[in-house]
Amino acid sequence: VILTVTLNLALDVTYHVPGVAWRAANRVARVDAHAGGKGVNVARVLQALGLEAVVTGLAGGPTGEAVRADLAAAGLSDALAGIAADTRRTLTVADGADATGFWEPGPRVTEAEWRGFAGAFAALLRGAEAVVLSGSLPDGVPPDAYATLCRDAAAAGVPAILDASGDALTRGVEGGPAIVKPNADELAEATGGAAATGGPPRTGGAALLAAAARLRRAGAGAVVASLGSAGVVAVAGEGRWRARPPEEVRGNPTGAGDAVVAALAAGLVAGTPWPERLADAVALSAAAVHAPVAGRFDAAAYARYRTGTRVERLD
Ligand SMILES: Nc1ncnc2c1ncn2[C@@H]1O[C@H](COP(=O)(O)OP(=O)(O)OP(=O)(O)O)[C@@H](O)[C@H]1O
Ligand SMILES: [Mg+2]
Repeated sequence: VILTVTLNLALDVTYHVPGVAWRAANRVARVDAHAGGKGVNVARVLQALGLEAVVTGLAGGPTGEAVRADLAAAGLSDALAGIAADTRRTLTVADGADATGFWEPGPRVTEAEWRGFAGAFAALLRGAEAVVLSGSLPDGVPPDAYATLCRDAAAAGVPAILDASGDALTRGVEGGPAIVKPNADELAEATGGAAATGGPPRTGGAALLAAAARLRRAGAGAVVASLGSAGVVAVAGEGRWRARPPEEVRGNPTGAGDAVVAALAAGLVAGTPWPERLADAVALSAAAVHAPVAGRFDAAAYARYRTGTRVERLD
């Protein structure tokens, strides 16, 4: 079982409209509402790969209930801990050509609720082969939350994969996750690279490798930096690699990073060697860009991209 943790879960609501008129009433043709948040996307991808995922995190109020109901409908195991405040919604207004998002601020978590979650997490680790920690921290959860959870996981012998940004990432790596998966901007921000190089280290050059090495020194076992259509660069104890998709895919890049994380978790559990693991991650995430909804991927496209993905050793 792979445990995915989403502390700042959401109900992703989409209004499908023929067009938007501001300062007027708009009729909504269709409403979709699904459990969302990065760890939920990871769990959906794992499930589609035929692996067992358990979703945990914090959920509360009527919106939290709606999230639980949608997880159940999707056949995903729910080990969410309850909070008093209502879970946030994200609202996307999609008119066929464009999408506009409205992100609610999210609940405030009490200290007792956070402690309760940490206790439940320790118990969930006993059945887990790997744990994925994804996304932002809600108000009230301490900035070193991911470090705490990574240490608990390490103590239980469960490898952790961390996908976060800002403080949650820089503090989180101190807990020694097996893998961290920043994108180029997140890596630059975490290592001060943007200031040093005049921009994020997108190209997979020396600045990017130096930034990744820095995150490893800060505590990460391996760093897999995702570079959008340029693929990934991995810096691990075993070596350094770059993997590129066969083509630039047009589609929906939201959740592509979650597909990378799902592939890395699957590869970690299976003991897949780094080059194949990275090729899987690049092909799966390209196939996720190809699919219109976050947390889904196109299986035929995955197989096709997997054949064309190139991995190169950088040492
Ligand atoms: N246009 C694209 N064509 C092919 N592959 C892509 C494209 N965009 C993204 N990918 C794949 O998806 C991976 C993750 O994308 P990206 O680096 O944008 O992640 P991210 O910013 O963390 O995304 P998110 O957090 O929204 O899930 C890339 O490493 C790459 O393998
Ligand atoms: Mg991301």
